[in-house]
Amino acid sequence: MDCDRSVYPHRLMPRQTPLFRFRRRSPFILLTLLILWSFCIGWALSQAAQGQLPPTPPAIGTVDPTPPNYRVGEQLYVEHCGSCHVALPPAVMPTTTWRDLLLDEQHYGTQIEVMMSPQIHIVWDYLQIFSRPTDDGEETPYRLEQSRYFNALHPDVEIDRPVTVQSCTACHPQAPQFDFRTLTDKY
Ligand code: HEC
Ligand code: HEC
Repeated sequence: MDCDRSVYPHRLMPRQTPLFRFRRRSPFILLTLLILWSFCIGWALSQAAQGQLPPTPPAIGTVDPTPPNYRVGEQLYVEHCGSCHVALPPAVMPTTTWRDLLLDEQHYGTQIEVMMSPQIHIVWDYLQIFSRPTDDGEETPYRLEQSRYFNALHPDVEIDRPVTVQSCTACHPQAPQFDFRTLTDKY
């Protein structure tokens, strides 16, 4: 039978070389592909894992981290008691000092406003949790240098006397941001 070339032209075309030839490839290429592939999977998995991790907690600026239910108290405290000088971390004075200072209009020779309710209670809750009590018969300190808690937080630290609310920033440069953990390079 006569073969019609116009109908079956492909039969006469030279055999095409395939784009990829897998036979007799060196195993090196296969290995490289495998390694690349596992890198991709690894990267994808690490991205996915990052998305699922909880956000990193804020840096602890004071002695203890502040749990979410005390953040409002902390904020109100910093706003109210940090307007004339840096807000002092509750841990530096005993609880009774904070109670007296919160209730007293006469403040070291200055007049301050006593907070209104309910703010004062929210701040009081916060200050109570983050400070410690005085011992039986122990006098309530009103100056930092007389507070054994302030002194306990500064073991072997030489601080010029008298210690004042202005002196903190010399060693705690972030004190205005209520961060007493960041120290100057000296330490
Ligand atoms: C109107 C400004 C003002 C406000 C508001 C204020 N203070 Fe003061 N505070 C002062 C002054 C002035 C001093 C005295 C500084 C001195 O004598 O060296 C002082 C001193 C202190 C001291 C004594 C530090 C020391 O050892 O010498 C403490 C503690 C203190 N304040 C805590 C607070 C607290 C807590 C609040 C909020 C209830 C507060 N302050 C709000 C002005 C203020
Ligand atoms: C002469 C430098 C110096 C001065 C001034 C100073 N501090 Fe400190 N403070 C330090 C050093 C150093 C530490 C760390 C001590 C340690 O961990 O052994 C520290 C630790 C603290 C801590 C504990 C921080 C934490 O969470 O570990 C608090 C709170 C603190 N200081 C508050 C204050 C306040 C408030 C003032 C100002 C009235 C003040 N300091 C003034 C040097 C100073």
